[in-house]
Amino acid sequence: MSQDNKKPWGGRFQGKTHHFIESFTASVDFDSRLGEVDAICSQAHAKTLLDAEIITEIEHQQLVNGLDTIIEEIREHKFNWRTDLEDVHMNIESRLVELIGEPALKLHTARSRNDQVTSTFKVFLMRSAAELTNSLRNLQEHILDKASKHVETIMPGMTHLQVAQPIVFGHHLMAWFEMFDRDLSRLEDWHKRTNSSPMGVAALAGTSFPLNRDLFKETLGFDEVTRNSVDSVSDRDYAIEFVSVLSLLIVHLSRVCEEIVLWASPAFDLIDLPDELCTGSSIMPQKKNPDVAELIRGKSGRVIGSLMSLLVTLKGQPLAYNRDNQEDKEAVFDAFDTTFSSVCAMSVLIEGMEPKESRMYALGGTGYPTATDMADWLVRQGTPFRSAHAIVGRAVALAEEKGVPLEALSLDELKQLSDQFEDSVFACLTLEGSVKSRITVGGTAPDLVRQAIVEAREKLAKAES
Ligand code: ARG
Repeated sequence: MSQDNKKPWGGRFQGKTHHFIESFTASVDFDSRLGEVDAICSQAHAKTLLDAEIITEIEHQQLVNGLDTIIEEIREHKFNWRTDLEDVHMNIESRLVELIGEPALKLHTARSRNDQVTSTFKVFLMRSAAELTNSLRNLQEHILDKASKHVETIMPGMTHLQVAQPIVFGHHLMAWFEMFDRDLSRLEDWHKRTNSSPMGVAALAGTSFPLNRDLFKETLGFDEVTRNSVDSVSDRDYAIEFVSVLSLLIVHLSRVCEEIVLWASPAFDLIDLPDELCTGSSIMPQKKNPDVAELIRGKSGRVIGSLMSLLVTLKGQPLAYNRDNQEDKEAVFDAFDTTFSSVCAMSVLIEGMEPKESRMYALGGTGYPTATDMADWLVRQGTPFRSAHAIVGRAVALAEEKGVPLEALSLDELKQLSDQFEDSVFACLTLEGSVKSRITVGGTAPDLVRQAIVEAREKLAKAES
C-alpha cells in the first residue's frame, strides 16, 4: 500500500500533503483508541467478503490471522501508530499489508471508511456503555449497603434547603438509588436505538458487491441492519444521545455531591468523611475539604460541554458523511472517561461517608418539622385541612415567640387556638412517630424503606444475572 510512500487514497494526487495539514487532518492520536474494535470489525468484514466470494478461504484466514497479530500488538502497546497514515483505519490497513501483503489490499473492497468508522464507533460505545452499566450497578449496591444500615436514622428532610419534615437517612439514600436507576434505564434504551449495523453501505450509496449485511450484524451482535445507506453514514445521533445520557447521569452525581459538600460543612455537620477521601489546605491548618465531591460536581461541566459540542458539530452538516464527524470522538471519549471515573469515585465516597446520627436527629428536630403532623391530627378530629393549617400556623408563631418547640406548648395554650386539641396530640409530634406515620407507597416509614431496599436488591440481582 505504501508504494512510493503514498497515502492509501493517494492515487490521484501528485503533490505531497503539506506537513502541517497532515497533522491537522490526522485523528490517530485519539482514534487509535478504537484500534482493537476496528480490527475486530475488519475481521467481520473479511467474513462477509468470503461469503460473497470476493476473497478465498486462504485469503480470509490470512486476513483474520494478520488482524489477530495487530490486536495483540495494540494490546501490548507495541503498535506503531503513524500520523502520516491519518487515522486508526488506515494505520491498521497499512500494518496488515506489511504483515500479510497482497490479501490485505482486498480488505477494503465493498467498504468505505464512512461505514467503517461509524460501525466501529457504535460497537466501541456499546462496549463502553456496558462498562458504565456495571459501574453504576456497583454504585447502587454501595447505596443499598449504606441505606440498609440507616433505616431508622432520622434526619431533616428539606425543601428550599429548610428543614421540612423528618425522614430517615436510608430513605434519602434510596432517592439517590432511584436517580441512578433511571440512568441505567436510559442507557438500556439508548442501546436499543444504537444497536443497528451500518456496515455494508460503503461510502453512502451501498455497494455493487453482493454483500450479506446480516453476516456483519450477527458477528458483532447487532440486532438489525440500518435501513438507509445515506442515513447510515450520516447518523451520529447515537453519539449525541450517549453523551446526553451521560450528562444527565453526571448531573445526578453533581446533585448528590452538592448534598455531600453541604452535609460535610461544619454549618450542617451531618456526615463524617474519612481522612483518606479529603484533602487539606496549604495555609489553613484546620481545613478538611470534601474535594472528591467538589471535583465530581466540577467535572459535570465538562460532560455537558461535550454534549453541546457534539450537537453543534452535527447541526450544520448536510447529509451524508462529512469530515466534521471526526470531531465527535474526543468529546465522546472525554465525556465517557469523566463520567465513568466519577461514578467509581462516588462509590468510594458513599462507602466512606458516615452519618452523624445524633446531629442529624438534633437538626431534624429544629424548625417545627412535625407541624404537618399536628395539622393532620386536627384533620382526623374533624377540622378541614386548610383550617388546621391556619391553626397550626398560629401554634408555630406562638412557639417561635416563646422560643420553644411545638411539643413544649401546653394543652391550654393549644386549646385557645382550637378546642379540638387533646392530650393525645403530643404523641404525634415526635420525630419517630412522624416518620413511622408516612405509610403511603414510597413514603419514609422505616418498614417501607426496608421493603424498598429488599425490592431494589432483587431488581439489581436480576439485572446482573
Ligand atoms: N477518521 C474519519 C472519522 O473519524 C474517518 C475518515 C473518513 N474520511 C473520509 N475521507 N471519508 O470520521
